[in-house]
Amino acid sequence: MEMTDPLAIHPDNAVVWHDDRLYLLDQRALPGATGFIACDSTADTARAIADMVVRGAPAIGITAAYGMVLAARDRHAADAAVWRESIGADIELLAASRPTAVNLFWALERMRRLIDELDADDPTPVLLAEARAIHAEDVAACRTMGDFGAELIAAGTPGQTDIITHCNAGALATGGYGTALGVVRSAYAAGKLRMVYADETRPWLQGSRLTAWELAQSGIPVTVQSDNVAASLMARGGVGWVVVGSDRIAANGDVCNKIGTYALAVLARHHGVRFMVAAPTSTIDMQVASGADIPIEERDPAEVLACGGQRVGPAGVEAHNPVFDVTPAALVDYIVTERGVVQQPDAEKMRALMAGG
Ligand code: MRU
Repeated sequence: MEMTDPLAIHPDNAVVWHDDRLYLLDQRALPGATGFIACDSTADTARAIADMVVRGAPAIGITAAYGMVLAARDRHAADAAVWRESIGADIELLAASRPTAVNLFWALERMRRLIDELDADDPTPVLLAEARAIHAEDVAACRTMGDFGAELIAAGTPGQTDIITHCNAGALATGGYGTALGVVRSAYAAGKLRMVYADETRPWLQGSRLTAWELAQSGIPVTVQSDNVAASLMARGGVGWVVVGSDRIAANGDVCNKIGTYALAVLARHHGVRFMVAAPTSTIDMQVASGADIPIEERDPAEVLACGGQRVGPAGVEAHNPVFDVTPAALVDYIVTERGVVQQPDAEKMRALMAGG
């Protein structure tokens, strides 16, 4: 969509490069407060990713790419003779911001390759063009995935269907439009969607805070439910699909996504509900053989022991907070990418998808 104000408060505006600064819609505060924070350095950018000002695998990758533009600008201004060597520290800083979403490392690698072959007096415009390209390609990929996913839903579902989604895999988590929520948007436009049930997604509440806000902004029917409602909702009938995103897909088709996704996949299989993962190929990591090799981020236990800033666990009690889990490929019906759809993924089908260019 065309936005006249570059800093409009809108789900498609999670990551904005404007007036030589990187602006991030502060997702920690949504939907109660809406505002951007500005990043003027690589350190600002890495901190914003670690603190989840920006989150969601593709959005993290895009942000890191813009962070590399800031790095090149600062390093080149400080010493044009050695900027290419010194920028390695910035890549390391950004790479350490979050461990699971492979889009972060994918985007950093793409920027690093460009730096290695760059032959320009000033690296900033070239790197900015590349970051913008990564951003634009992600939006285009989301739109293509939206169409592919909606076609699957139309082909597999008579009439309208309810969809359960988990976390936020929407415009806020991408360059715009969204992966899972891109499918939701396209299915809604095709008249196939009755209701989206958004798991609230404890502990960080990406579902109730972000997915519900984003869909409500677009006029798409959404109902928030606590994470433990899905089983009884599926048993009642009406839910045809679970549609989620991913932070990293292994070479055998195992899918790593927000904690709780695996439970949804088990429930979906039991109830005959189809399980769709929408993710760009930048989320597929052919270097990891299976989900067992994917690093799972552990965050501060305080996120679990509190809710909405209010402490809900007794003092002195431990909590564990792994924020992602792995759904085995055998429980996945479809992986939808911008290059095409993989049905019942396995190593051979993933290899064929990635070899297809
Ligand atoms: O911890 P988060 O909010 O970064 O986790 C995000 C998710 O798990 C999303 O489902 C995933 O990144 C896909 S986003 C298109």
